[in-house]
Amino acid sequence: MRDLEETKLQYEYIEKAKKYVKEREEQAGRKLTCCVKTFGCQMNARDSEKLIGILTDIGYEDTEDEHADFVIYNTCTVRENANNKVYGRLGYLSNYKKKNPQMMIALCGCMMQEQEVVEKIRKSYRFVNLIFGTHNIYKFAELLCRAMESDSMIVDIWKDTDKIVEDLPSRRKYSFKSGVNIMFGCNNFCSYCIVPYVRGRERSREPEDIIREIEGLVADGVTEVMLLGQNVNSYGKNLENPVTFANLLREVNKIEGLKRIRFMTSHPKDLSDDLILAMKECDKVCKHMHLPLQSGSTRLLEIMNRHYTKEQYLEIVRKLREAIPDIAITTDIIVGFPGETEEDFAETLDVVKQVQYDSAFTFIYSKRTGTPAAAMENQVDEQTVKRRFDVLLKEVKEISEKKAKLLEHQTVEVLAEELNEQDASLITGRLSNNSVVHFPGTEDMIGKLYQVRLNECKGFYYLGEVVADA
Ligand code: SAH
Ligand code: SF4
Ligand code: F3S
Repeated sequence: MRDLEETKLQYEYIEKAKKYVKEREEQAGRKLTCCVKTFGCQMNARDSEKLIGILTDIGYEDTEDEHADFVIYNTCTVRENANNKVYGRLGYLSNYKKKNPQMMIALCGCMMQEQEVVEKIRKSYRFVNLIFGTHNIYKFAELLCRAMESDSMIVDIWKDTDKIVEDLPSRRKYSFKSGVNIMFGCNNFCSYCIVPYVRGRERSREPEDIIREIEGLVADGVTEVMLLGQNVNSYGKNLENPVTFANLLREVNKIEGLKRIRFMTSHPKDLSDDLILAMKECDKVCKHMHLPLQSGSTRLLEIMNRHYTKEQYLEIVRKLREAIPDIAITTDIIVGFPGETEEDFAETLDVVKQVQYDSAFTFIYSKRTGTPAAAMENQVDEQTVKRRFDVLLKEVKEISEKKAKLLEHQTVEVLAEELNEQDASLITGRLSNNSVVHFPGTEDMIGKLYQVRLNECKGFYYLGEVVADA
């Protein structure tokens, strides 16, 4: 449910926080800085832009340096190593705080939705000032005020919410592209996955709010949007006036001035024929489908609670390619799910070979406490998992290199995205299919589309040159 009163209230807290920052600034005799570190997925990246929006609104200067006056970690807990990274870095932060006692440290995001984590931080990381979760992130300004008024740790975690709070400030990382949440949460409960427990139930935003936000972004210079949801294919089903994702795409496609539309993530079980048609019809929708497979074994897919078979998955791929022959297809695969046999793994490899993915993210299964899979007894031993992982990675790499090579010497449309990190005479741009190309250029080109000739394929990226404006 949309809550307009809440938006108003949060702007009052923003005003209050501005005064607190001003006072602290006067005490310190200098501007205060803030640093927001993001772990995890695009959702978190977008949430971080909202956090930076508020922090810069109230007077902090944004920096990448963690020696800042306000440091916040926006955490991820999808795999164990995501958690370990956060604990490791908190150690460093405690040292920074000893040197700058006025420093404030906050933690938010998915990891904070886990009770054991919060208990551990309360006990062993007492220097943290503020902890909040994913459901009350819209209250950041209010929580910040409370933390500034208090000497002890403020902890505010909610189990769930049905609220959607619109129109709060946000500060984009890129001037020309932006993530746009179309929905929050997840209802799928794949048996290995912690996301539904830490992000709550599925809630869709009203289409008019989404369109209004994108129109605002375009007026502010944005040419590419990435529509974000854990399962965009079930978008709009629970709205008072249901809307399909395919029809949302058609509406977004009409927005004048917008050049490119991407979306993430598509769950195969809900991918409709109408979505394929919409992708084909809509000229701004990029020719790229990220379609997580997880496993090629129908037996395992059932235990994973994915609700599709190997054959159904392959059929979707066939239909996509039939409708949009040059579409890039990418995926996520988990190796070592409990009970995975050599036969199951062979099925995964078979799908990889049949589909010929343009790229694939491969993950070693990570046990997440509280999920059904974590309680399964037949966990696969580490050595076997590692062996399978290496085999899969090699296969995936060979295929994606081969696929990338196919575009060599072609001229394609590219969005200039940023100055190359190593060589400032080069611009890094992205193809519609999400691949990256480096080409000679200047900063003023950023955010614009060009026809670029892909002179040389370097495995995962290209070297090219601009031949014309798009
Ligand atoms: N909503 C998206 C996925 C979000 S999580 C979808 O359903 O496609 C991103 C990826 O992390 C997943 O696709 C999966 O491959 C991986 N993942 C999730 N839980 C995992 C776990 N417990 N261990 C290893 N990888 C996991
Ligand atoms: Fe996790 Fe499955 Fe939801 Fe994706 S769809 S976030 S994998 S539970
Ligand atoms: Fe991680 Fe949360 Fe995204 S667990 S992958 S940051 S939804």
